[in-house]
Amino acid sequence: MTNILVLHGPNLQLLGGRESEIYGADSLDAINQKLIDTARAQNIALTCFQSNSEAALLDKIAAAPEQKTAVIIFNPAAFTHTSIALRDALLAVAVPFIEVHLSNTQKRESFRHHSYFSDIAVGTITGFGALSYQLALQAAFGIVQN
Ligand code: DQA
Repeated sequence: MTNILVLHGPNLQLLGGRESEIYGADSLDAINQKLIDTARAQNIALTCFQSNSEAALLDKIAAAPEQKTAVIIFNPAAFTHTSIALRDALLAVAVPFIEVHLSNTQKRESFRHHSYFSDIAVGTITGFGALSYQLALQAAFGIVQN
């Protein structure tokens, strides 16, 4: 069975209550459950993991090849703008990944305009709230089929 891994970075466990005017009202559990259900309908196994720890995210990425992960959907959250280590991990494992953001980072503070991931991602989906993840999943289905 094909495996897709969804990784969520720091503070995304607070979704639903966190700045809902920016990030929307859906909880992370609700977003994850919808992704799992959508993938299951396509006979694809989907695993979700959130961490506030850069090290834990690095370990998940490093383990992706042995877990036979076909695609990673990744919202690095604030690490988007800071983490060369996560970038290096994704380059090292060479598993295709889609960068996701709930908010349109280009419309926000200038420190959010730079991403350490966009130039190495298959593609980036930003600004559609929880729908960004569903759009990324549709894109992931396309990658898996190729
Ligand atoms: C975010 C955007 C980041 O700038 C921010 O630090 C987040 C969430 C988003 O999904 O819109 O935590 O990745």
